[in-house]
Amino acid sequence: MLDKKITHRPTITYRPMRPTDLQALQQIHAGLFPIRYELEFFLNVVNGHGIVSWAAVDISGCDDRMDRLVGFVTTRLVPAKESEIADSLRYDSSRSEKTLVYILTLGVVEAYRNLRIATTLVQEVIKYASSIPTCRGVYLHVIDYNNPAILFYRKMLFKLVRRLPSFYYIQGRHFDSYLFVYYLNGGQSTCSPLGMVAAVAAVAAYLKGLVASLASVLRKSSKPGRSRKRADSKDTGSLLCTQEGDSGLV
Ligand SMILES: CC(C)(COP(=O)(O)OP(=O)(O)OC[C@H]1O[C@@H](n2cnc3c(N)ncnc32)[C@H](O)[C@@H]1OP(=O)(O)O)[C@@H](O)C(=O)NCCC(=O)NCCS
Repeated sequence: MLDKKITHRPTITYRPMRPTDLQALQQIHAGLFPIRYELEFFLNVVNGHGIVSWAAVDISGCDDRMDRLVGFVTTRLVPAKESEIADSLRYDSSRSEKTLVYILTLGVVEAYRNLRIATTLVQEVIKYASSIPTCRGVYLHVIDYNNPAILFYRKMLFKLVRRLPSFYYIQGRHFDSYLFVYYLNGGQSTCSPLGMVAAVAAVAAYLKGLVASLASVLRKSSKPGRSRKRADSKDTGSLLCTQEGDSGLV
């Protein structure tokens, strides 16, 4: 499933997840994320129970019943007041309850990376979120060392809201996370002084981490016999998204 190279030119299409994707979805999650998900999560994804998701499939050389799952994004619609970004949303006097789309997991099989598959998947999420009148944004958490994912979300114009200390607890260790948001439908508030301080501190922490990891890459690449290559999430570990009450980390 997680083969390193493809030797053909893939034809990628996008569609909702289906029950027949269950096994492939489980395998890809197991390969990309250091956390094991419960079967219930996968069943909810493929059956569309409370989770809206998209699959990227390679249809080259197969009929569409035999397509190959190579990427996915899973999301949940949440009330904005229950999210950590409620304070960064613009005040809205309308009575309807504001909502947000939370990205639970996003992944692309390694052999299919850098083909803009994740870009298309996240664009689908943004399109879906924009079509919900109450929705004010798309948000997610990224573990602090997952530079490919952080660069990806910055490229997609997500805004860094803040750093959340010890947000993840994985195999006996705590990790910070960054909270990213893509505001929609006039969702962004004009920044409060406190919000501004949090955002500046988060950006400073992120830049410090980036400089440290670049320095480490440079140190490694200057050693004989080691070539310098683009950091990828296979080495840095996976981006993790989590949501309280969502069967732990995802
Ligand atoms: C992060 C991830 C989803 C990106 O998927 P992808 O399909 O390769 O991404 P795209 O091809 O759409 O990349 C778009 C942009 O993101 C940035 N980007 C993506 N991967 C990157 C990497 N490894 N290093 C630096 N920048 C990267 C680049 O700016 C890229 O634009 P460019 O091609 O013009 O340079 C993929 O690496 C992955 O599945 N990682 C493991 C799981 C994970 O970390 N998921 C994160 C979300 S929960």
